[in-house]
Amino acid sequence: MAVQTYDSLRGQTVLVTGATRGIGAAVAEELSGFGAIVYAGARRPSDVSVADVRPLRLDVTDDASIDAAVGRIETEAGRLDVLANNAGVAGPDAPLHEADVEAIDATLGTNLRGPVVLTRRALPLLLAREGGRVVNVSSGMGALGEGMGGGSPAYRISKTGLNGLTAYLHGEYAAEGLLANAVCPGWVRTDMGGASAPRSPEEGADTVAWLARFRPGGPSGRFWRDRERIPW
Ligand SMILES: NC(=O)c1ccc[n+]([C@@H]2O[C@H](COP(=O)([O-])OP(=O)(O)OC[C@H]3O[C@@H](n4cnc5c(N)ncnc54)[C@H](OP(=O)(O)O)[C@@H]3O)[C@@H](O)[C@H]2O)c1
Repeated sequence: MAVQTYDSLRGQTVLVTGATRGIGAAVAEELSGFGAIVYAGARRPSDVSVADVRPLRLDVTDDASIDAAVGRIETEAGRLDVLANNAGVAGPDAPLHEADVEAIDATLGTNLRGPVVLTRRALPLLLAREGGRVVNVSSGMGALGEGMGGGSPAYRISKTGLNGLTAYLHGEYAAEGLLANAVCPGWVRTDMGGASAPRSPEEGADTVAWLARFRPGGPSGRFWRDRERIPW
């Protein structure tokens, strides 16, 4: 699809959550390569290994941590152009009637409540200029149209909810210039995806970073995989 994207993100500020490893680290590295100031969100900032990014303490399940992290970006950079909600956990594999309730809570807390609360806190910065972007790293496992059986109930429901957040943000804030999109990175060789997955983290990061480079007025309120729109 022909979309106008930035060739350079120089002067722009990006926050990637879960940037210690896997897809988040690859997204942070790619966007830093485009010249952005990249805040690499991490529960333990010392775990960030990507060069040329700013490690930022951020646990998306901790409201005080969210407040402090966005506060630091406000003070230091004074702007936020892209929020990539990438941090996630796989949660319990077992079907719902066998899944542990604490594990369900933890999965929904990290994958859904975290992005909702972080986005809420970041919205004033994202809306300060036209063309702020929210990129939600979702999964086909949360797509209503791809079949919902096969275990991982909390993970699936969290990603359906994250897609809901995407559609909501578009509905509520598109008129103010916000672009909100969700993306399935495919099956990626990370700690979550496992060693048999066909895609490298860099391949998994491709559409995430592409959405982060959309210019003002670009597509929003959509779900993507491999730079193509897919059904919710
Ligand atoms: N891999 C796949 O095949 C695949 C497929 C579809 C969608 N996805 C999605 O892609 C995203 C990235 O997955 P991945 O495969 O790169 O996973 P990963 O390698 O397991 O990395 C997960 C990242 O999330 C962070 N994280 C977990 N809980 C957190 C919290 N409470 N606060 C902040 N950060 C937290 C981890 O930080 P720590 O280092 O501190 O633990 C780590 O940086 C996830 O949203 C996942 O659902 C992945």
